[in-house]
Amino acid sequence: MEPNWLERTFHRVKLPCKSLTSGVRILHLSDLHASPVVPFSLIEKAVELGLEAKPDVICLTGDFVTDASPFDQSEYARILRRLSSAAPVLATLGNHDGGPWASSVGGLKDTSAIDGLLHASHIPLLHNRSEVVRVRDQSVRFAGVPDLWSRDVDGDLTFANVSADDPAILLAHNPDTKDALADRPWDLMLSGHTHGGQVVLPIVGERFVPVRDKRFIAGLKQWNGRQVYITRGVGSIDGVRVNCRPEVTVLDLAS
Ligand SMILES: [Fe+2]
Repeated sequence: MEPNWLERTFHRVKLPCKSLTSGVRILHLSDLHASPVVPFSLIEKAVELGLEAKPDVICLTGDFVTDASPFDQSEYARILRRLSSAAPVLATLGNHDGGPWASSVGGLKDTSAIDGLLHASHIPLLHNRSEVVRVRDQSVRFAGVPDLWSRDVDGDLTFANVSADDPAILLAHNPDTKDALADRPWDLMLSGHTHGGQVVLPIVGERFVPVRDKRFIAGLKQWNGRQVYITRGVGSIDGVRVNCRPEVTVLDLAS
């Protein structure tokens, strides 16, 4: 049951930027992992739960699929368009979305399938670049990078238009990306990748921790005057979750 037992979580995140005057609500979804063990029905339920919270902006932080199994792009895009027709959506890719790492484990050779899915879903990809989203009378800059394991993360390109006075929210699949971009002007990083540990056993702890910094597995973390939110994500690799429900994350930003 647990892999389908979605939990919607709410978090208040205070940012030091004075430009946020009325608050901004972000829906953060990650690790949808459409596959034979993660049906579209679960992904659509997560989308519905998220939209019920009436977000101002929606962030998707990668791993749209698990492997190279064919998927119904038009059905997947129909579900994701429910997001893009409700609010501005921004996306980054994960390690399973194609490239040398995915290819090395039998996954997608390149990102073209997911690029096509996002295009059909009217969702822009933040690939080493940033974009400003207007929320009521406020401007919020979102920066996004490719997956850390792709070795394509380019801080110069990504933050070319971001000044230290204009802090950005960084979208990066793998929470270890914080170290690679430690000298860049971001205040909050949104990540997934860990699935919250996916199987969390008493005493032993998390069983799925594909990160170097084992402190960053789930939840809101403080780090060197910045914050990192790691969502447990929606899907899973093998359809198993224990003490680690799939998550639909709602973040309320305030200055
Ligand atoms: Fe994942």
